Amino acid sequence: MKTFVAALMGAVALSAGPALAQVTAPPDPDPAPPPAHAPNGRWAARGWADRIVLSPAADAARGAAVAWRTDVRQTSAEAQIAEEIDGPLLGFFARTVAGTTAPIQNENGQALYHQVRFEDLQPATRYVYRVRAADGWSEWLPFRTAAADFAPFRFIYLGDTQNDILEIGSRVIRSALKEAGPAALVVHAGDLVAQRETKVHDDEWGEWTEAGGRAFAMTPQLPAPGNHEYVDHILPDGTESRLLGPHWPLQFALPANGAPGAEQTSYFVDYQGVRFIVLDGTAAIDLGASESQTRWLDQTLASSPARWNVALFHQPIYTCARPEDTEELKTAWKPIFDARRIDLVLQGHDHCYGRVSDPAGAEASRANSDAGRPQGPVYVVSVTGSKMYGLNDRADAQPVRAAENTELYQLVDVEADRLNFRAFTATGRLYDAFTLVKGEDGLNRLIETEETLLAARRCDGEAGPDDRPCTAEIKD
Ligand SMILES: [Fe+2]
Repeated sequence: MKTFVAALMGAVALSAGPALAQVTAPPDPDPAPPPAHAPNGRWAARGWADRIVLSPAADAARGAAVAWRTDVRQTSAEAQIAEEIDGPLLGFFARTVAGTTAPIQNENGQALYHQVRFEDLQPATRYVYRVRAADGWSEWLPFRTAAADFAPFRFIYLGDTQNDILEIGSRVIRSALKEAGPAALVVHAGDLVAQRETKVHDDEWGEWTEAGGRAFAMTPQLPAPGNHEYVDHILPDGTESRLLGPHWPLQFALPANGAPGAEQTSYFVDYQGVRFIVLDGTAAIDLGASESQTRWLDQTLASSPARWNVALFHQPIYTCARPEDTEELKTAWKPIFDARRIDLVLQGHDHCYGRVSDPAGAEASRANSDAGRPQGPVYVVSVTGSKMYGLNDRADAQPVRAAENTELYQLVDVEADRLNFRAFTATGRLYDAFTLVKGEDGLNRLIETEETLLAARRCDGEAGPDDRPCTAEIKD
């Protein structure tokens, strides 16, 4: 990857100043592509749309957006949308919507990414859309806009997919989609891909979109960026920095309503009475976009009209694998989560499972919920892909539930005054579950599940929990 790094050295760097706009790395240059890739390799762009990913607009009742990829012959972004009907004439009253097109060039050859935003949609309405490529339109893809006001729904929460995305992680994504039934959204807590020297980055985005398949085109996706969505960057003075990878802003047509300095990676979405607030921990920790995101977080929570508020970002406030918590984010964001009474904080990064209902520990948490005392924000870390980290020294006492060497998916059911959270292992067995009940005083109480949970999954020295070796790496 020498050429890649060398090319990045010429790119504009993010300085520590918070006022700068977010800068994206240039597309991977073409290092005379190896024969396994361009132009006809598995992940090369063709004359039919691939990597189709649907995003909600900031107001998910009235808008949505789509991103997709084609070969270089489709030089404009064109989509059609119509209300869905039961008969076959889907395109009869379809309107054509134009968008933006941007090139990308890498080991898989040249390609174009396209984005179209569908605006002025009706709430709680079924639509179909299709996107154009040089050899023809995609199939019509159905989706539904959110209701204008609160209505119950279910969403899927996934941790890092990152490694062996298609080979191993995909079955967890697909099990989640299959078991969830009509899930309205999927939220991803960062590190969707690894973007490291060991793999061609463009291949990984091919794997990630194939893992979700057309479900990612029909169910809006809310991704948070992880540190691995950034690529390494050496500043002129020789110090290491990071630049947002070229795929992120092309692959996701996200609402551009985030914090200064993290415009492409922070945003919020209002979906049926829930405000999802997506933050960029990497930009906060490494790239000077901490204060701006902290201010934006506070404003976004203060102005939230939602019944429930959920934060989504990568580096966890309370870690399950690392020796130290993410102190920068804990110092900046936890006081706001407490003061503004956020309900749920969904995170990744640690490649283990940990649910912290009370930072004082599981015992305090259980005593609190048994006594019906008010509950603060609940912090969850989870992992979907194959990479595993061992639990840290707090994992026996601080989280109510923790797991290592385990891939999981989570289903969250949102009701008017209840939020039901369930974590399932890859085989679909219930691993953790709790309910938040919102009282008339506006405060939550937490009820632990009475369902039988799978026994705690831990490594015992070299032995893993599946009668196979433990693969969890100890972070120190
Ligand atoms: Fe990760």
